[in-house]
Amino acid sequence: MMASNTEIQIKENGVLDDTSLDVAAAESFLQKSMAIILEDAVKKAVDVRQKVCEWRSPEELKDLLDLELREDGESETRILQRCRDAIRYSVKTTHPHFFNQLYAGLEPYSMAASFITEALKPSVYTYEVSPVFTLMEDAVLRKIIQVLGWEEGDGIFNAGGSMSNMYAMNLARYRCFPEIKEHGNSAAPRLVVFTSQECHYSISKAAALMGIGTKNVIVVPADKRGKMIPSALEEQIKSAKNEGAVPFMVNATAGTTVLGAFDPIDEIADICEKYKLWLHVDACWGGAVILSNKHKHLMKGIQRVNSVAWNPHKMLMACLQCSAFLVRDKTRLLQHCHSARASYLFQQDKFYDLSYDTGDKSVQCSRKPDAFKFWLMWKALGTRELEHRVDRALVMARYLAEQMKKREGFKLVMEPEFANVCFWYIPPSLRDLPDCPEFWKKLHNVAPLIKERMMKKGSMMVGYQPHGGRANFFRMVVISPQVSKQDMDFVLDEIHSLGMDL
Ligand SMILES: Cc1ncc(COP(=O)(O)O)c(C=O)c1O
Repeated sequence: MMASNTEIQIKENGVLDDTSLDVAAAESFLQKSMAIILEDAVKKAVDVRQKVCEWRSPEELKDLLDLELREDGESETRILQRCRDAIRYSVKTTHPHFFNQLYAGLEPYSMAASFITEALKPSVYTYEVSPVFTLMEDAVLRKIIQVLGWEEGDGIFNAGGSMSNMYAMNLARYRCFPEIKEHGNSAAPRLVVFTSQECHYSISKAAALMGIGTKNVIVVPADKRGKMIPSALEEQIKSAKNEGAVPFMVNATAGTTVLGAFDPIDEIADICEKYKLWLHVDACWGGAVILSNKHKHLMKGIQRVNSVAWNPHKMLMACLQCSAFLVRDKTRLLQHCHSARASYLFQQDKFYDLSYDTGDKSVQCSRKPDAFKFWLMWKALGTRELEHRVDRALVMARYLAEQMKKREGFKLVMEPEFANVCFWYIPPSLRDLPDCPEFWKKLHNVAPLIKERMMKKGSMMVGYQPHGGRANFFRMVVISPQVSKQDMDFVLDEIHSLGMDL
């Protein structure tokens, strides 16, 4: 017999009599999982005697992880084991022998900040749900603006440098053609943006996403060290104008992804001023040099630019993600360009100062309080220690380069200017070959094979890539203060021992 509607209602109401989350059990689970996190993902992960990675093929890993999601939940014991496994088979990017990416190392203060914000689950869009982090974000942005030497400015933390670069392109376009916000791309002529051949691929992605088109990203040649050639930029601007295109932005890079090169900002700023173009600096990787009295000359001219993208999650080791976008502006451009004035969130009759509801500057709705990670570590370390970290990383990169010169079989692609040390390892079998296409063809295969071996052994991780016409070479990136001279020597010994039979 079918149950009547009233019977169903009475039964369903019964469900609501108790709360269905066992808070004590949740707390006990979190205690246990935190203990695993601290032991396996923090303590063991940074232990130089442990592996950087425990390599498994995707098929093996699928079997090991038992990925299927089922009708019934699992016991606490099994879930805790799943936490352990997730950590075990993940790459330990905080390990002292992880040199694979432009981030690395353990940063305890930003890690604690991450844990706090994950526990609190705030979203930085309104002061009412994020009072603390709204003020902290503002304080960090003000401090960065001061460090950049700007008299005024605005900014926002967001989900990564690629997004910061996209913000720059959107603001630059909005400044020239504000009608696009309402009428779309048909309200503008063919717009073109300039960037060097060494720039990060996010510039192309931003152009694609914004409907500018990747073909309208005009690639400016770089010199041998990977720096944009200003005279070539000016030529490209002139010829684009002659073709009827409308230049609106130049992207300069401070710390290119592969070579670690710094474009000459001051000279590029002269050209941008002459042609009235927005100058954005992608300092996602190299921006930290601004904190170093010794190295800030690399960003000479930064006080003249319109916008900057800077990732404290790279050189300064804040936990991922921590990326700031700064704009030198006092007209509330960020707000005008991105606002949608959602009345359910940004009510205009609230009881507090509405200027603290910063969320409408963002292209996101929910947004993590990433600035807190940087704020807490900056508070703990002080500017002096941040400066020391940058200086130390660059001394370490120099040490590594000098050691390579003393060893047979290592050849620098160029002298490092920053923390990227680019080099080839030449196995004994190739050392007597003349410098001919055959040699480079064979050398091209060496780095991928050594990389495969190091990952399968789990001893370290270093990135490699082909670059322009160059055969595959390694790119070592030195960041963490936990890395010592011994680790640099280890890298060279290990590459030799993994590759000497090739
Ligand atoms: C120069 C440069 N810009 C931008 C980015 C992108 O940053 P994110 O990975 O935070 O999107 C990178 C990443 O390595 C980079 O090297």
